[in-house]
Amino acid sequence: MTIHIGAAPGDIAETVLMPGDPYRAKWAAETFLEDARLVNEVRGMLGYTGTWNGHRVTIQGSGMGMPSLSIYANELIRDYGAKTLIRIGSCGGMQDKVKVRDVILAMTASTVNSPSSGIFRELNFAPCADWGLLQAAAQAAAKRGSATHIGGIYSSDVFYDERPDLNEQMVRHGILGVEMEAAELYTLAARHGCRALAVLTVSDHLGTGEALSSDQRERSFGDMAEIALEAAFS
Ligand code: HPA
Repeated sequence: MTIHIGAAPGDIAETVLMPGDPYRAKWAAETFLEDARLVNEVRGMLGYTGTWNGHRVTIQGSGMGMPSLSIYANELIRDYGAKTLIRIGSCGGMQDKVKVRDVILAMTASTVNSPSSGIFRELNFAPCADWGLLQAAAQAAAKRGSATHIGGIYSSDVFYDERPDLNEQMVRHGILGVEMEAAELYTLAARHGCRALAVLTVSDHLGTGEALSSDQRERSFGDMAEIALEAAFS
């Protein structure tokens, strides 16, 4: 048991999928895992452990934003021995070629600020995905025929952004989409010698204003979970 996770030692698998929404964790565990068991419900941030094709997997909500994800990822890694952490979540599309419902595999994650910024001081650390996971996820996405983009994303620390110029610079530099968690996940994984990846679905588009319906959200969320599971164990 840690401050934010009530799981017993051994209740958490080495491979953890991390959706932002705890109810997505419940849905994915009930949909994709066998013998899924609730292992955490502290603060309603649900976590389940079960098996997928015989492999042990935990699906643990991260909450929204880097400070929340940082709490769960730190405890999963440092206290429960998690080794592979894959964020599955949504993002806003930033390029014309990126359409709503497309999948983005985040090779890098740029930030203005993250919970880890303080330790880097004058350094601009470049948070990046684990290459093996990225490659495996690209193959899994291609096999499913998902429209997929691989490249840089922007991990913002605000949803209601008062600095549109920052998004403009990201768009100008080819950034594919914006979300709020991946950069800190990649940084923590680097610090602790773990593997990390963010598999994202474009839920809305900053340029066109288009957005997924809740039905489409559910379907695309399932696609992401399967891509993440295949990548983790390939
Ligand atoms: N900003 C930040 N996070 C997001 C967005 C967005 O526009 N869309 C989905 N996640």
